[in-house]
This record gives sequence, structure tokens and C-alpha cells, in this order.
Amino acid sequence: MGKQPESESLTVRDNRTGKTYNVPIVNNTVSASAFKSMSAPKKEGERDENDTEKGLRVLDKGFMNTAVIQSEITYIDGDAGVLRYRGYPIEQLALHSSFLETAYLLIYGSLPSKRQLHTFETEVMHHSGAHSDAEDFFRSFRYDAHPMAILTSAFSYLGSYYSEANPSLQGQTLFTKRDPASISNMDKQIYRLIGKATTFAAMAYRVRQGRDFVTPPTGFSYTGAFLYQMDHLGEENYVPNPVLEKALDILFILHADHELNASCTTVLQTGSSLVDPYSAIAAGCASLYGPLHGGANEAVIRMLISIGKPENVPAFIEAVKRREKVLSGFGHRVYKTSDPRSFIVRRTADEVFKVTGKDELLETAMALHDAAMKDEFFIKRKLAPNVDFWSGLIYRAMGFPLDFFPVLFVVPRVVGWIAHWRQMMLQEGGVKIWRPRQVYLGSGKRDYEPVDSRPDAQIAPSPVVHSGITKRTNLASFKGKSKL
Ligand SMILES: CC(C)(COP(=O)(O)OP(=O)(O)OC[C@H]1O[C@@H](n2cnc3c(N)ncnc32)[C@H](O)[C@@H]1OP(=O)(O)O)[C@@H](O)C(=O)NCCC(=O)NCCS
Repeated sequence: MGKQPESESLTVRDNRTGKTYNVPIVNNTVSASAFKSMSAPKKEGERDENDTEKGLRVLDKGFMNTAVIQSEITYIDGDAGVLRYRGYPIEQLALHSSFLETAYLLIYGSLPSKRQLHTFETEVMHHSGAHSDAEDFFRSFRYDAHPMAILTSAFSYLGSYYSEANPSLQGQTLFTKRDPASISNMDKQIYRLIGKATTFAAMAYRVRQGRDFVTPPTGFSYTGAFLYQMDHLGEENYVPNPVLEKALDILFILHADHELNASCTTVLQTGSSLVDPYSAIAAGCASLYGPLHGGANEAVIRMLISIGKPENVPAFIEAVKRREKVLSGFGHRVYKTSDPRSFIVRRTADEVFKVTGKDELLETAMALHDAAMKDEFFIKRKLAPNVDFWSGLIYRAMGFPLDFFPVLFVVPRVVGWIAHWRQMMLQEGGVKIWRPRQVYLGSGKRDYEPVDSRPDAQIAPSPVVHSGITKRTNLASFKGKSKL
């Protein structure tokens, strides 16, 4: 038995050995590493691969209750529906701030003075231009390439231009040194990533339409310049609609960060190997694209189209309850009440509809929302609308193509990813590579058998249709590589 436990600690008794351990609780957290010291002798017949003598492991599939970093950026109270960036409620920022001001707040920790904001805005907008070679890169994609495939590749491509930002070339402490020169180098990459996110998104949009690319304009807000780059076709004095510009700015504020979601975790996981920030952001992009994350607003619209009209909502709800369908845009790993962003998006939607006209799917969306909020299945599981339930309707009303919705999520989220990446790079004690553990349940040691004496393996690779092979090829005879 150890000494008297302190009140801020957890007492754990290992019933395998009878030993008791005190694990300190700091900030309402226990260290998973503390469990590593709790080892026991291997039981008779127990698999070696359990590593029982090497200490207890903590299993948390899907990170349901594992904190992987200490952060000062974003706070979410999922039960109360609270979201704050650096302490500021999201509602206040959506009402009073601008996207670039919020970006400054997220990345550097406080709201900037007028002068600081001006410098930051100027730097970001100054770094929005793409190298002229990038045009060929964007044009190298097939006409029907998904814009997220283009954008994900584009961030990685962008990194190839900046050898001074590559720790593999410049030394691994490039971004962790915390001296003024390193921080200035880091800031330059930050301006580039934010500045070029809109340019690349607009290029991914235009290339599919066979439109020429547009040089980022001057004198516009971040979202104004983005809309200009997407839509300008040579008209004189082209100015995007201010209601749409403002709505996009608000949506960008709402999407700028959401603490350690799947994509941000991916950026940090990738960044933990000290790879360059462009590669880390490309990895985040790939993660965001999944339908359980950034693909959800696109899925909402496809779902609403499939439902068709309000009369079909009850049948859809029943199908969800039979587990045949998923109600996209509902449910959240963290929020167990309405996502606070969903209210702001709903209000913003009203403003947008005033200038664009109402989206025909809105009535179906409202009927679906109301039916789900009253239904015991959703109430019991605390499933409420998330930000994606309404945002897709705004994007659709604004005329963005469906497959562009995740791009509209990536552009602002670059800011959140960078804020977390910067924080991790500059954290006290440097960066530890994120190398989780696994619980190995596979075969024990077995010996290699020569191929001729082996039976068929348990799992055979699936047969596939070779779409390029015609009847003529099958009927042909040839030497060399055999036909499958
Ligand atoms: C966001 C999401 C992935 C969170 O997943 P999670 O935290 O792992 O939650 P779970 O999948 O464990 O859900 C808990 C229960 O609610 C159900 N559920 C969760 N979301 C649901 C949805 N959108 N439609 C129907 N049922 C849902 C699950 O089937 C599960 O039911 P069960 O306990 O009877 O098995 C999930 O809610 C989801 O798939 N939502 C739709 C996609 C979406 O809108 N994503 C955007 C997030 S911003």
C-alpha cells in the first residue's frame, strides 16, 4: 500500500497483484503513461503479445476520452452548446468580428490592435498570388476531378516551392526553435497558407469550367477577394454582392476552428513528425473530406434531394430509425445539444435567402428538423442539428456546386489547423512524435513455409472487373505479361 492519497489523485488497485497506485489528477486529467507502471506477471497460457509484464495499456478506440495535447485555443462545452475561441463566445465573434481578425485571434492568442490587424491583413492578402506554374498544375487534373482531390494535392504541391520552410532540408528544429528568425519564417508560411487557400480553392473551381484563372484583386476583404476570384469574368468594376460576402465571412468565422476534430488531429499527428506545414495541411484536407466530417454538408443536400418534399419526411425518419439511413447534419461527437453554430448559420441563411431567393429544399429541411427534434429516437440519443445541417442550404442558394462544399470548409479551417500546428511547434519542451499504441490480437509467432507446401490462404484477394480489357483483348494471344 502506498502513502496516503492526496485529494487530487486517483487511487487504483490492481487486483492482479494487489498493488495500489496513486495517479495524480492535474486539470481533471490523469496521465495515461502512469498506467504503464502497473505491470503484472504473465498468466499461464497468456499470449506473449499482451505484453502484460511491460505495463498496462490504455485502449480508447476512436479517441472517445483521450486528450492528446494541452491547448489554449478553443473551448467547447458539448452539453451546454458552448463554443469559444480564445475565450470569446462564437456568437460575439460572428456578430462583431471579421474572418481575418478571428484568424489573428486563433493563431496569435488575442484580438489585434487596429495596426496589428492591418499588418496581418496586408501580409495575408499580399501572399495570395500563385506562381504562374501552378496554372499547369491545376490544368493537369481530369475535367471531372473532385475539387477536394485538387485542393489536397495543391497544398502539398505548394510546399515544394518553399525549401526554406522544409525541416527535412533545413534541419528538424526549423519551427521549434522559438527564436525571432524561426518565428518570422513560420509566420511567412502562415500568411502564405491562408493567403493562397482562397486562390487555390478558386482555381480548383475555375479549372473545371474551363475558365481562365484570376489574379487575386486588391482592395477587397478576404471573402470578397475569394468571390471575385471565383466569379469574375472580365466585367468592369466587378464587386461581389456584399450580403453574400458578409455571409461567407460569418460562415468562415464559424468554421475556422473546432479544437481537436479529425482533421485537426490529423494535421497535428502529421506535423508531429516535424514535416513541413504544407504537407501537414494537405493531410488535414484529406481527413476533412470524409462524409463523417467535412463531407457532411454535401451529404445533407444529397439527403434532402433524395427526400424530395416535406410529405416524405416521416418515411425518411422511420428509415433512419430502422438504421437504413443516416440523418446527415445531425449528431456530433462533442455536442449533445444543438451545435451553437447552427443557430448562427440559420440566421445567416435568412439574410442570404433575402437576396438569392429561398432554396426549394428549405421546407423539406425545416420539416425534417422539426420531426427529428420531436422524435424519441433522436431525443434519447441527444442528436441535434450540427453546423452542416443548414450551411449546405446557404452554399446551394449562393450557387456553389455540391462537391465544392467541403472546399468552403477547408479554406477557413486552414486557420484553425495552423493555430494548432503553431501552438504545438512552439510548446514548451518541443514536439514529441505522435505514436499511439495498439493492442495486437493477431497470430502468435509462426514459421515461414515455402509456397509449394502452403495451402490456400484464408483470405484470397477479390476478383475485380478490368474495365479497360475488351472482348478483343481477351480473344487475343500474346507473349509477355499474362492476362488476368
Ligand atoms: C457526427 C457523428 C459521426 C458522431 O458520431 P459518434 O460520436 O461516434 O456518435 P455515435 O455514432 O456513437 O452515435 C450515438 C448513437 O446515435 C446514432 N446516431 C448518431 N448520429 C446519427 C445520425 N446522424 N443519424 C442517425 N443516427 C445517428 C448512432 O447510430 C448511435 O445509436 P446507438 O447508440 O443506438 O447505436 C455522427 O453523429 C454522424 O454520423 N452524424 C452524421 C454526419 C454529420 O452530420 N457529420 C458532421 C459532424 S459536424
